Parts: sequence; structure tokens; C-alpha cells
Amino acid sequence: MTAMELARRNRAIKGDPENAKRISMVTAYNYPQALHLDLAGIDICLVGDSLAMVELGHETTQQVTVEEMLHHTRAVARGAQHPLIVGDMPMGSYEVSPEQALETAYRFVKEGNADCVKLEGGKERSDVIRKIVSGGVAVMAHIGLTPQSISVLGGFRAQGRTAVKARALLDDALSLQDAGAFAVVIECVPPVVAEVITEALEIPTIGIGSGPHTSGQVLVFHDMLGMCVHPHFSTFTPKFCKHYANLGAEISQGLEQYVVVCRFSVRVTKDILSDLRLESFNSNMRTQQHDKNSNTGTNEK
Ligand code: KIV
Repeated sequence: MTAMELARRNRAIKGDPENAKRISMVTAYNYPQALHLDLAGIDICLVGDSLAMVELGHETTQQVTVEEMLHHTRAVARGAQHPLIVGDMPMGSYEVSPEQALETAYRFVKEGNADCVKLEGGKERSDVIRKIVSGGVAVMAHIGLTPQSISVLGGFRAQGRTAVKARALLDDALSLQDAGAFAVVIECVPPVVAEVITEALEIPTIGIGSGPHTSGQVLVFHDMLGMCVHPHFSTFTPKFCKHYANLGAEISQGLEQYVVVCRFSVRVTKDILSDLRLESFNSNMRTQQHDKNSNTGTNEK
């Protein structure tokens, strides 16, 4: 998948909203996850900065560094051959100046093998996006709940819930499109707001917790597959997220079985060995008896 193909797909969606294939996007952070996305035919693979929370155990996305993101982006790029690979620029790597943003974007492409980058924020990011795109790197924008800014937003909470705030989100989206973004993620806004923005834009919208009327949907790998059963994760697994599998429970079950085998394997092996020894002793005895009988012509059992 390329950004151009995505634009074509979006034209098809706009032309035939009922029947055209909408866009599927999922996060991945390592090689095996990327292979799974590839095999499943996912269109876009986001190496999200949610890495900080679901893979590195941080409380928010704010702690993850460019180096950490690049390390994981490289692994994902080795596994995902067909999806468009989006590298998520972490907090502090693009806000200082358009030049800083372009340098970071180049690192994602050259060192991370990403196809393009994503960054968070509204119309205040227009200059940064313009600069990155003019430098030759495609940019996906991200509005609504922007987790890098939770200290300003006051936490992980829905956005655009009043008419004024919804209008501001629409203005943001139009401004980001105008700056050259090829798509925009809309996170945790009321479905009607996401729908209005989707209708107003030419570029695709990718929704998360924002209803069904966007051009596509994105979910975090661990959330959608029920990967994290630890209480730490239950505090931030979004309520809107449907579970398509229950991997966490499966993994725990497999590991618990292994623990039992490890703990008791010596005893079990001893039992098996003594059974085997007994069996081979009995079988030797039977053979010897048989040979003896054949030699003497008797039929002793
Ligand atoms: O980092 C991430 O996983 C994201 C998605 C929630 C869109 O930005």
C-alpha cells in the first residue's frame, strides 16, 4: 500500500460509501506482530508511540524516545512487506521547529525504513507538516484526543464534545489537509463530528473510538487482541475497543502449563523412565523365553 493508493481508495469510498473497501490500520511494534498484520492483509501498519505503554510499560506515551521508536520501526519494516508503514514521531521530536521535524522525519525513513510519518496536533502543526512534505516525506496527521498532550487536555478524555470544539476540530482538519497531510487520524470524538470532518475532507480519515463513518479504522494491537491481562493494562485499555481475540489469556494458560511441567518434570521423567525400563525388561524376558522354547521344542509361557 502507498499513500497514492490510499488516495485512490478514498475516492472509491467517497464514490460508493456502501460498497467500497474501507481502510484497515493496526499498530505493530515488532517483527512477529508485523508479519501477522501482513498475512492478514491490513492496509496500514502504524508503529505507534503507544509502544511506550503497551510494550515498554510506561504510564503515558510521553516517555518514548526517537531512538526507541526507530529500533522498533526497523523490526516492523522487516516483517510488514505489503502494508504502508507509518512511523509515529514521539513527543519532543517535531514541535520545536519545522527543521527539527524534517530531520526527525528523515531519520524515520532512512534509519527506521518507514514509508511515512505521523504526528499529533491541530492547525498549529501546519507549518511543520508543510516542511516535512516539501522535504519529500508523506505525513499522517492526528487530531481529537492526542495522547502526547494529555497534560494539557487533562487526561485521556473524549474531545470535540461541544459545537465550538467540534468546529475547531473541523478547522484543524482542513488546515492539516491544506498543509499537505495525506490522511488524518481522528481519536475519541463523537461519531457525528468524525462524520462531518470525513465528508468535508478529500483525504482519508482513520477513526479510533470515533464511530463508523470514517474512511477507515485504527486499533492498538494489544487492545484489539486482548493481549494485556495484567491489571496495569486494564486501567488504560479503551472501553470502546472490541476484542477480536483473547491472546493474553491464551499466553497465560500456555505459560502456566509450562511452569507445571518444569516443576514436576524430573518426577514425571523418572516415572516414564522406570515404566520404559520395566517394559524393556519384560520384553527382553519374553524374547529370552521364546528363544528358549524354540530351542527345546516346548511351549512354556
Ligand atoms: O500510538 C498509537 O497507537 C496511535 C493510535 C492510537 C492512532 O497513535
